[in-house]
Amino acid sequence: MNNNAEKIVEIIFEYITKIQPLREYEEILMELSYMGRSLANADRCTVWVVDTKNSEIWSKVSHGIDTIHIPMSSGIVGQAIENKTQMIINDVQKNENFNAEVDKKSGYETRNMMVIPMFNRHNVIIGAFQVINKKEGDFNDADLKYLMLAASYSAETLDAAILADENDQTQKEMIFLMSEAVEKRSKETGNHIKRVAAYSRILSTAYGLSEEETYTLEFASPMHDIGKIGIPDAILNKPGKHTVEEFEIMKTHALLGYEILSASPRGMLKAAAIVAYEHHERYNGKGYPLGLKGEEIHIYGRITAVADVFDALGSDRCYKKAWPLEKILELFKEERGEHFDPILVDLLMENLDTFLEIRDKFKDSIQ
Ligand code: C2E
Ligand code: SIN
Ligand code: SIN
Ligand code: SIN
Ligand code: FE
Ligand code: FE
Repeated sequence: MNNNAEKIVEIIFEYITKIQPLREYEEILMELSYMGRSLANADRCTVWVVDTKNSEIWSKVSHGIDTIHIPMSSGIVGQAIENKTQMIINDVQKNENFNAEVDKKSGYETRNMMVIPMFNRHNVIIGAFQVINKKEGDFNDADLKYLMLAASYSAETLDAAILADENDQTQKEMIFLMSEAVEKRSKETGNHIKRVAAYSRILSTAYGLSEEETYTLEFASPMHDIGKIGIPDAILNKPGKHTVEEFEIMKTHALLGYEILSASPRGMLKAAAIVAYEHHERYNGKGYPLGLKGEEIHIYGRITAVADVFDALGSDRCYKKAWPLEKILELFKEERGEHFDPILVDLLMENLDTFLEIRDKFKDSIQ
């Protein structure tokens, strides 16, 4: 029996609810494949992902089988992807394109199959939905139509998951780069990074930035001082106050950081480059290096400025002792609309408890 339209809608809603909160790429693929199987009344569903770099398609979701990689244009799936067309094939074993290797590897016999390619928002093919072995009888046009509904939703989900996965790789690269730099060049602790990341997340959410932007900023903002790796040790770690000339050199860390980070094409490092460049700009236009004013300063820069200074003032540095909280809050009140975006100062005050919880959680060991 085929699923009827009502049942289809029910299945789709059930899975959308399940899939929405998932972050893990593999979990998402898994649930999408379960959805495809239910919708088409099939024995199996495999979600294939196109890997252009390696000219192959792969799938993690093959119900008990490990990851399968096949060359880009091989098999029926490969044909569907290459020709960007959906297919119903009810005599698979006789089909000239059928790749019997997969059956051989998995010890499974494929009778019939339906394949629907998936496209991202730029209409680039990113994968395919493949359902195998209808429970009863052959696949028909109604099955195809229902599965196409799900495929367009799946394509969106998959597209977002691919982006998130790229971002995760970026993160790892970034965190490695950053911690290495921090360890080598400056006396600040790893907890400074964690606190600035967490403060930035709170401000970003409270300001109304999307979860995607917040996620990007959370990992970009701790990179703001990466340019300090280019500052001579005698200046960077000078135990006292800088001369005017020394401070001029110190100030170049913003541009240096921008130059280091903007060499990367990745989205999150691009955001980090903005942050490095603009975290010492001031709302009143008296900051450096460019003297940008108000909303000319990217919101990522304005948020990082608040997070960074809140943290810097509360921490011991080679040139100063940590300030008591009242003095810090006083400075933020005085600098509301001067150094800092007034909205962000208000949000800092409103969320002070959460800021203090974070400060407590990621305390510097020696203070
Ligand atoms: P940082 O230590 O991470 O400080 C970041 C920012 O927090 C500072 O940016 C400043 O806006 C604020 N801040 C930190 N400590 C104080 C303070 O005692 N009073 C006030 N009013 N604000 C403070 P800024 O000033 O652009 O400095 C950038 C970086 O230059 C600092 O990063 C630090 O690495 C270095 N630096 C600044 N002043 C000195 C200094 O007198 N001696 C040494 N050795 N380094 C300094
Ligand atoms: C094919 O599409 O021919 C191979 C993929 C599969 O059978 O799972
Ligand atoms: C410095 O003495 O290096 C910094 C002075 C300032 O924060 O403007
Ligand atoms: C992103 O990579 O998610 C966007 C970051 C940006 O705004 O540059
Ligand atoms: Fe800085
Ligand atoms: Fe800093």
